[in-house]
Amino acid sequence: LGDAAVSVPTHAGFDHSTDPQLLADHYAEWTRLQAEQRAFRSEVAGEYDLWYLLQHDDINEAFKDTELFSSRTVQYLGETMQTLLPEELDPPEHGKYRRILNPSLSPDAVAKLEPEIRERCVGLIEEVADAGQCDFVRDIALRFPTAIFLQLMGLPVDHVDELVALARTILHTTAEHDPDFSIRATAAFEIVGHLTAAFEARRAQPADDLVSALLAGSVDGRPLTDDELVGMGFLLYLAGLDTVANVLSYSIRHLAGDDALRASLSSDPERWPTAVEEFLRFYSIATTARVVTRDAEFAGCPMRAGDRVVLPTAAASRDPHVFDHADTFDPDRPANRHMAFGAGPHRCVGAHLARLELRVAMEEWHRRIPDYAVAPGAVIHEAVGAVAGMDSLPLTWTP
Ligand code: HEM
Repeated sequence: LGDAAVSVPTHAGFDHSTDPQLLADHYAEWTRLQAEQRAFRSEVAGEYDLWYLLQHDDINEAFKDTELFSSRTVQYLGETMQTLLPEELDPPEHGKYRRILNPSLSPDAVAKLEPEIRERCVGLIEEVADAGQCDFVRDIALRFPTAIFLQLMGLPVDHVDELVALARTILHTTAEHDPDFSIRATAAFEIVGHLTAAFEARRAQPADDLVSALLAGSVDGRPLTDDELVGMGFLLYLAGLDTVANVLSYSIRHLAGDDALRASLSSDPERWPTAVEEFLRFYSIATTARVVTRDAEFAGCPMRAGDRVVLPTAAASRDPHVFDHADTFDPDRPANRHMAFGAGPHRCVGAHLARLELRVAMEEWHRRIPDYAVAPGAVIHEAVGAVAGMDSLPLTWTP
């Protein structure tokens, strides 16, 4: 081991999904870790080392260096059962699939969806507005992106609650409750059924939408196979659900706790787009990983082929080397170079859609329910894994 190995600390047994400090105060803990070291090592995986990168510029470079860091799996422990398309492909293969998705999720394509997205959002909010209370996670945050996904796939929007339940089963059932994966496999099978129905409907009757674009797409001169089509649909669904839901929930929880900020943004809705960028920065929820392809020193770490780097976007987005007053929420922050959507070729393909959903939700919620609070005595559990989030957010207001 060279000098670098000596200077990089090891945190014995560290795993960000189970670390008690991270679970207690996720964002503050990444900041604390970052203040103490540039990167650290954990041997928790056993066969290979994990290298946690903590600084914005190192994480940014790791996202972009696809030769040194492969997306063969984006799990930090173990392997993915089935390759996520296109997330777990490296260039040049990755680009062939990503190219098919880009046009349907470009800023222009997404802007065209705004009226319908707004209508869905208003519908969901109006279902709860008169009640004076709701569980924001269950009633709005999960249902809204799910409804948009159904719309995007040309599927009936009245399947929304069924799809939310299926996705929650897949994302939140633990090995303890489902040792042989049968519960999660059954839920996945049902989602595949919905996706297959969407592709069959569009095969018979093409339209100007994402499903038709996937059907028309080709890789190396051949159309996508049925498995590839369903795989892409599956990732789009799961990647767009928990992420949007959790950023929305963190944003609303933040605003519930800051009366002055809430009043000022509600009365000046032009500021929502910039505030949404700051919510994305302040609550960068994704932690992804890469496989090291060869022995190399990176960010001062002596990495070996087969090790993995862990990339917490929360740490990158609150790095004081890059952001003034990084730990202060500034709704008018200029030139916000946050890392919420990652970087490099895998940078979130749904970023424009996510921004639109977040902005519309903020506008429409505060137009109807400008004043609300977290219900007294609410017990909210947070999880930190590939995506950080909360299981519920009980709110009350005067209708
Ligand atoms: C606030 C919401 C969102 C956040 C914070 C987020 C975050 C991210 C991040 C960090 C990545 C990079 C992962 C990596 O490099 O390993 C990513 C990729 C991806 N996201 Fe999102 N995402 C969001 C919303 C969405 C939505 C709405 C969709 C669906 C339309 C989506 C679909 C995808 C897909 C398909 C990829 C893989 C892209 C590729 O590998 O080329 N995301 N997202």
